[in-house]
Amino acid sequence: MTKRFPPPPLRDAPLAGARPSADARALLALRKSANKLVLGAPGPDPAELDELLLVAARVPDHRKLGPWRFVLLEGEARFRFGAALASILKGRAAPEAQVQDAEKSMLRAPVVVAVISSPVEDGRTPVWEQELSAGALCYNLLVAANASGWAGVWLTEWAAYDAEAGAVLGVQAHERIAGFVHLGTAKAATPERVRAEIGPRVRRWTGA
Ligand SMILES: Cc1cc2nc3c(=O)[nH]c(=O)nc-3n(C[C@H](O)[C@H](O)[C@H](O)COP(=O)(O)O)c2cc1C
Repeated sequence: MTKRFPPPPLRDAPLAGARPSADARALLALRKSANKLVLGAPGPDPAELDELLLVAARVPDHRKLGPWRFVLLEGEARFRFGAALASILKGRAAPEAQVQDAEKSMLRAPVVVAVISSPVEDGRTPVWEQELSAGALCYNLLVAANASGWAGVWLTEWAAYDAEAGAVLGVQAHERIAGFVHLGTAKAATPERVRAEIGPRVRRWTGA
């Protein structure tokens, strides 16, 4: 199903600043995350995922710090991470329903990419900018996956904000989980949602 991407350009290769594409416009105008309940198999295989990550990482990145990294959860690893999440909640005497949800939370799609914002302390690049780059990366991964025929959704849920859960994946003190991007195949369409109205959110500043 997956269409291959062009190979990465060589360093210093001249690249067009615009790339008009009716297909890309349709993709962006109609893009929709899959509801997490309709995701299923198959998903990208390891080689396809490598390619998706390479393309997804072509995001603006001030000072070329690469302030993000990925933890990939595939196959059995999804069960193990779910079990670890369940055990964390059990240890906190959480309600059984929450424990069970946690146990299944990484099984919705065959591939879950934990995107880790990993800011670099260079003394001059604000962490905020580096975190924005990680957010752009999550979105770019979704779009690249959609363009390849995969459905996906970017979720955080509680685990992205929990130090103990993060530690299971090796998230360090200066890092944050930007999201879990779940990638697979949509078993049903997801209805369009309410969209923020753009008009009231736009002001043309004239300085007058
Ligand atoms: C940073 C971030 C975290 C999100 N976390 C969740 C989540 O934990 N649970 C959820 O149901 N949706 C979450 N969402 C929303 C979904 O990713 C999805 O975007 C939305 O439900 C559908 O909007 P879309 O079709 O425009 O993508 C999150 C979105 C963002 C940007």
